[in-house]
Amino acid sequence: MQRLLRVFNRVLPALAFAGVLASGAQAAGDQPSVPYVPTPQAVVDRMLEMAKVTAQDYLIDLGSGDGRIVVTAAKKFGARGFGVDLNPVRISEANENARRNGVTDKVAFYQRNLFDTDLSQATVITMYLLPRVNLELRPKLLELKPGTRLVSHDFDMGDWKADASVRINAADKFSGAGGDSDVYFWVVPAKAGGSWRSQFPVSGKPQTYEFMFEQKYQVISGSVQVNGRAVKIPDAKLRGAELSFSFTAEVNGAPVKHEFSGRVDGDRIIGQAALSGSRLTARVEWIAERAARVAGTGAMN
Ligand SMILES: C[S@@+](CC[C@H](N)C(=O)[O-])C[C@H]1O[C@@H](n2cnc3c(N)ncnc32)[C@H](O)[C@@H]1O
Repeated sequence: MQRLLRVFNRVLPALAFAGVLASGAQAAGDQPSVPYVPTPQAVVDRMLEMAKVTAQDYLIDLGSGDGRIVVTAAKKFGARGFGVDLNPVRISEANENARRNGVTDKVAFYQRNLFDTDLSQATVITMYLLPRVNLELRPKLLELKPGTRLVSHDFDMGDWKADASVRINAADKFSGAGGDSDVYFWVVPAKAGGSWRSQFPVSGKPQTYEFMFEQKYQVISGSVQVNGRAVKIPDAKLRGAELSFSFTAEVNGAPVKHEFSGRVDGDRIIGQAALSGSRLTARVEWIAERAARVAGTGAMN
């Protein structure tokens, strides 16, 4: 876990002198914001396993060093992708690495500032940066396509808690000593916070549902108004664009269990609702339209 910070501390005075400690935005002046420390191969393997990388994925490594993450993703899983690094020596090493491993048709490496890199093509983003750099990247990462998977070696994202994390012991390439590495995994959540409205027939009569969700990153909670009564939603889950929840509410004078699941797509949710009660069992198409976003909660940043 402390491998990068150890190296960072060792080179701190020189980095400060060279202006390397500038923020990411200032790093647009093209000074590396993070020193080079390669991720041990065992940790690379684990990062790609955590992200469940497949041949359908497009992976971008931010600060790609000798290209090992992108090259391993291509060689082991058939994924395509690219890496960016400010250091031209790293880019040459990464291209050589891709050639040696026969994956030049799948990967590319660009000498580019990670803060100026278009990430929209990515289905998976990997990084081994620094806590401050992760935090600086966070708003940009949260704007990515819902469902984009993120994996970070050693550093978290502050109060955006990881969906999963693991600690592994892997040999330190520089010192030869064993060391703990943490790997953090997130799925970019859709923007589901705010109010939503749906109407569909229940036992032949139109029934209106008004949902209100509060969201902080991937954590979501909410309530629903049915027939003028507010009912708490106890178990809302959001993973990428997939939203699911259930509640029991009275419909036509009898309690009915409602189970909703759907995909958030901008200002619509499309999915299904399963209703079950003593007088009815139904499965219906569920479409919700956004009525309003939650304003000024800062929920996503
Ligand atoms: C800790 S190393 C990680 C290398 C590789 N991702 C790995 O895990 O093995 C960080 C890399 O980021 C590069 N880097 C630092 N700041 C950068 C920036 N602003 N834009 C692009 N690359 C940067 C460094 O040159 C270095 O190669």
